[in-house]
Amino acid sequence: MLVGKPDCTFARQKVYHPPRKYISILDKLASEGTQMDEDRASGEITIPGYDTLAERGDAVETSPWGDSAYQRHYVWPGVEPLLPELSGARVLDAGCGIGEYVGRFLERGADVVGFDASAEATAIARKRYGDRATFYRADLTEPLEFVPDDAFDLVFCNLVLDHVEDWKPAFTAFRRHLAPDGELVFTTIHPMRRYRRHRDELSGYHETDSYVLEWGETDAQIVQYHRPIEEIVDSLGESGFRLDEFREIRPRERYEAHNPERYETAMEAPDTLCVRARPIGTDR
Ligand SMILES: C[S@@+](CC[C@H](N)C(=O)[O-])C[C@H]1O[C@@H](n2cnc3c(N)ncnc32)[C@H](O)[C@@H]1O
Repeated sequence: MLVGKPDCTFARQKVYHPPRKYISILDKLASEGTQMDEDRASGEITIPGYDTLAERGDAVETSPWGDSAYQRHYVWPGVEPLLPELSGARVLDAGCGIGEYVGRFLERGADVVGFDASAEATAIARKRYGDRATFYRADLTEPLEFVPDDAFDLVFCNLVLDHVEDWKPAFTAFRRHLAPDGELVFTTIHPMRRYRRHRDELSGYHETDSYVLEWGETDAQIVQYHRPIEEIVDSLGESGFRLDEFREIRPRERYEAHNPERYETAMEAPDTLCVRARPIGTDR
């Protein structure tokens, strides 16, 4: 478990080192004899971190949600062409945050269910769109018992898996809840970007490893995982998906005016990955 320099997603974050709070949580659990794997420990930090960011709202200078310049002018133009026809589509927004994408899907005529592990973010999403969409507080690393099987045309998961160590349980659940001809679209920070920015803190490009960020002027801490690209592709295949589109998002020109620094680095090398996958066969 390592810490590192801030990722540009979180342009104003400062370095948090060493991760004493993280270590102390693990030490405390070990001394209490509690069984706690690293993934759950990650949630113990990340979700309260997102609760804080949701509570702080506009007071947080760099938004983690879909309303940031990075998301509006870089991620969304990259991801939108991969989405199916949304009018009448049944969409599950996994890790919906405060509902930024739920709003975009509703505008385009979709029926939307959103869930997020942050109680504060879920409450805000429900307040904004609860009259038109359904929201749950839930963790995507656990079975999603609140939604039926084969129920969605699209499972959308935007910049959420970055906080999850093992993607296979989440992908397996997504596949279960997708209609046989449905599709999964997700985004994640490009592993090469993470590796280049955090190489001193990571075990190596080929290893899955994590670090903790402290978010700007807040005391929110967020655990981020690096993993090699081959693990992303393998996790999909091992969870019953066929890779359909794999895009290293290229910045549009107008992004430069909104976030010149990140535009420049995204022009030099890809910043964020956008993936579309489809279920294989009908075995669940
Ligand atoms: C960068 S934010 C993105 C939110 C939203 N998808 C958007 O783009 O506006 C990451 C979100 O993932 C959620 N999250 C992190 N780990 C999660 C988990 N294990 N299960 C469900 N949500 C999780 C956080 O609470 C946070 O809302």
